[in-house]
Amino acid sequence: MDIDFVRSRFIKHFDGTTGAIYTSPGRINLIGEHTDYNGGFVFPGAVDKGMMLEIKPNGKDKVCAYSIDLKDYVEFGLNEEDAPRASWARYIFGVCREMIKRGVEVKGFNTAFAGDVPLGAGMSSSAALESAFAFALNDQFADNKIDKFELAKVGQATEHNYCGVKCGIMDQFASVFGKEESLIRLDCRSLEYRYFPFKPQGYRLVLVDSVVKHELASSAYNQRRQSCENVVAAIQKNHPEVEFLRDCNLEMLEAVKNDITEEDYKRAKYVIEEIQRVLDVCDALEKNDYETVGQKMYETHYGMSKLYEVSCEELDFLNDVAFDCGVTGSRVMGGGFGGCTINLVKNELYETFITTAKERFKAQFGRSPKVYDVVIADGSKRLV
Ligand code: GLA
Repeated sequence: MDIDFVRSRFIKHFDGTTGAIYTSPGRINLIGEHTDYNGGFVFPGAVDKGMMLEIKPNGKDKVCAYSIDLKDYVEFGLNEEDAPRASWARYIFGVCREMIKRGVEVKGFNTAFAGDVPLGAGMSSSAALESAFAFALNDQFADNKIDKFELAKVGQATEHNYCGVKCGIMDQFASVFGKEESLIRLDCRSLEYRYFPFKPQGYRLVLVDSVVKHELASSAYNQRRQSCENVVAAIQKNHPEVEFLRDCNLEMLEAVKNDITEEDYKRAKYVIEEIQRVLDVCDALEKNDYETVGQKMYETHYGMSKLYEVSCEELDFLNDVAFDCGVTGSRVMGGGFGGCTINLVKNELYETFITTAKERFKAQFGRSPKVYDVVIADGSKRLV
């Protein structure tokens, strides 16, 4: 993303003056999918693609927002009843409201923003947008600064309260806390986190984007969360101390098998196993044991496809191609229902894998997947 590009649009759209510029990244996640809202572990990192915005208080009581990419302009007030219709503007409105709820005296402002996180690729373009605005509003308007965790929670609450997605904390956390060449293991129950240097020798991470985006993804996501809560409720009858699936093991799940649906059973089994896989991958990484990391990634894909059922034909196909090419690890990344696979590939296999994936995908589905090399980068910051 280019500062001059965003600035030139801001100047053109508003009164010719300039403001402050902020950026927040999208994310990848090496392993730990659908574990965040179950109090488990995740292992994301921020990427070198994100959202950039310019902002300047305008002395009025309204927000004037311009989406450079969509060439769309929206104005809204800062009161609860002023929610805009345009979905992109609801993210900004939601962040304003959530900051106000936390005591920040948000005033009217002009803003223009643009992004280079591919939409619908499972790289959290919406979290990047929320985090960029939360970070900017905190810097511009807060007398008592909100801490970084609370900024991540502002983005999450925006999804819950204004966009209808009952997401966990992973995406916004990664966007705010990202660090160059590091993955971050977050315990989503205690919120303890630890940076792991990630500079694999002889391997690369690459995303292959199926360019599939399912319209019903957010309702399917909320249903998955509901299934997890159903199982927790059943287990709580025997174990009242249990709060999340994080607190459960497979024996506890087996004990309630007859009290829950087959579907809920499969969902919970995946989550319990996935939480353990994150810990296993972190251990393996510390020993530079990439074979184990890769094997766990394939196990995650299997679980997401067959138990959690958030994969799709195109993603299963890309996973099979990776396996056939001898790729070390491959799996669907993010919420699922479309988007990318994340692949851990030996350097010498990279070219063959990418060429084969493109050719075979095109032959099967009649269009080419997109490919993004992963560069792990810093989290939210002010640039100018
Ligand atoms: C989406 C959500 C996250 C997380 C992932 C799945 O990206 O926003 O909170 O649940 O799906 O791991």
